[in-house]
Amino acid sequence: MIPLVLPSAVKIVEVGPRDGLQNESKHVSSADKISLIERLAAAGLSQIEMTAFVSPRQIPALADANEVAAGVCKLPGVEYSALVPNLQGYEAASKAGVTSCALFLSASETHCQKNINKSVAQALESFQAVSQRARADGNRLRAYISTVFGCPYEGEVPIAKTIDIARSLLALGVEEISLGDTTGMGTPLQVARYLAELFAELPPERFACHFHDTRGTALVNSLIALQSGVKIFDTSIGGLGGCPYAPGATGNLATDDLVYLLTSMGIETGVKLAELTAITSWICQEVLQIEIPSRYAKAKLAELTRKDLVTITP
Ligand code: HMG
Ligand code: MG
Repeated sequence: MIPLVLPSAVKIVEVGPRDGLQNESKHVSSADKISLIERLAAAGLSQIEMTAFVSPRQIPALADANEVAAGVCKLPGVEYSALVPNLQGYEAASKAGVTSCALFLSASETHCQKNINKSVAQALESFQAVSQRARADGNRLRAYISTVFGCPYEGEVPIAKTIDIARSLLALGVEEISLGDTTGMGTPLQVARYLAELFAELPPERFACHFHDTRGTALVNSLIALQSGVKIFDTSIGGLGGCPYAPGATGNLATDDLVYLLTSMGIETGVKLAELTAITSWICQEVLQIEIPSRYAKAKLAELTRKDLVTITP
């Protein structure tokens, strides 16, 4: 049996308000988005991606990025970030008071082109201006590399591509890189192999993992990533999410499912699980009126309902 080497604490980056809602066809009001972000912060999430400053024609669900980013009542000690594709997005985010931004590109050329209308080289070139501005403003810069563990258009993507892009991003001054499994194509042994190759070249503390749960592997891949040295994970409330430019992409790993797993192993997250269940129920059942995608909240709510039935049934 291989001994588990696990950290004592993990940081969770909550991406539900952005990744979770960007693909939703049901209209969610700015007031509900603001409430969602404020409730997530109150539940103990210390970094929340609030929205995206992208083309409103491409992503109409987040066309109210300004109102949302400016409207959130911010708690001290919580990092409120936004996704930006270019300098125009960075400037709009700054104007709305955002001090932490996340750039994004893909390891595969086809997804990169479809998602941001740029090749990988063009994207990296365009990020230079954003990085210079962020440094001058004293703002924090994160970046996503999508399709690291597989591309819906190109299939398997060699980890060497991600390593090259990650080097360029770190050289640009990006503080943290999130490795996106955009359509949940990653499998445990592949994740172990890819991360071993990556961390032989670059420091694990600069990387986060961003698993989508399209094929039900997000949780097991997270466990492998944890053992490989990753201590930062992106998750989405209730398991909402998907990328409009990645056919078949479904939700991110659910925040409650990961917090439940980590808590069961004695790993600290600072997040209150009971609060997550309440928020999941509200956003999925009341606001979006969909079935809850995450496993833990669904099970917990069913358990609570059964308990109610027991108490009222003679
Ligand atoms: P483009 O057409 O190449 O941009 O789009 P352009 O510079 O040629 O400008 C065209 C128009 O877009 C202009 O407006 C610009 O003003 C406007 P017009 O003059 O025609 O009226 N524009 C913008 N508007 C608002 N905000 C901006 C902005 N930039 C230009 N920042 C662009 C390039 C990237 C903007 C476009 O392709 C786009 O918005 N794409 C959306 C990409 C997206 O949001 N994808 C989903 C998020 S990524 C994801 O989910 C993956 C992730 O979760 C990790 C993972 O799971 O792997 C992060
Ligand atoms: Mg994503």
